[in-house]
Amino acid sequence: MKIVKESGFKFTEYSSKEELNSEDIRLIDMAIDAQKSSYSPYSKFRVGAAILLENGEIVQGSNQENGAYPSGLCAERVALFYAGAKYPNIPVKSIAITASFNNHLTNEPVPPCGACRQVMIESRNIGNKPMRVLLAGQQKIYEVDDVTFLLPFNFSSVNESVI
Ligand code: THU
Repeated sequence: MKIVKESGFKFTEYSSKEELNSEDIRLIDMAIDAQKSSYSPYSKFRVGAAILLENGEIVQGSNQENGAYPSGLCAERVALFYAGAKYPNIPVKSIAITASFNNHLTNEPVPPCGACRQVMIESRNIGNKPMRVLLAGQQKIYEVDDVTFLLPFNFSSVNESVI
């Protein structure tokens, strides 16, 4: 039997950071602050991420490039792997992502790359709680209730054991 299915998700768009609650504003500011430690001499694109853990800790990460290009790592994965190393098994409540070029925060929100989405989903599954995603640009902010919406049909280790 042929069934056509539809997949989609709702997200919220804000036109200014101030429309969010103080916890989210702080997380976005921490993501902007994280850009300061970006090592991006090749792209000159400074990406900052900040993660709020369930224990109240905030972990920051920035993109770290390398002359052997594929060896570098995105801000989101730097932050998530650092959080995993420092606070293993503590669920991630929210992640905020921001980016700048020439010292200007991007107007539009910058979405995480596919590899980061994959890593974000595994972190989310370790905690087994929704991971909110805040993508903050100067003129627009997107709020997604759970990172799983950003990668439909994502691969997880569960798929390995199902024949
Ligand atoms: N980058 C991130 O840090 N996060 C993403 O999700 C996409 C791209 C970085 C990688 C590289 O250092 C720079 O942005 C330009 O691609």
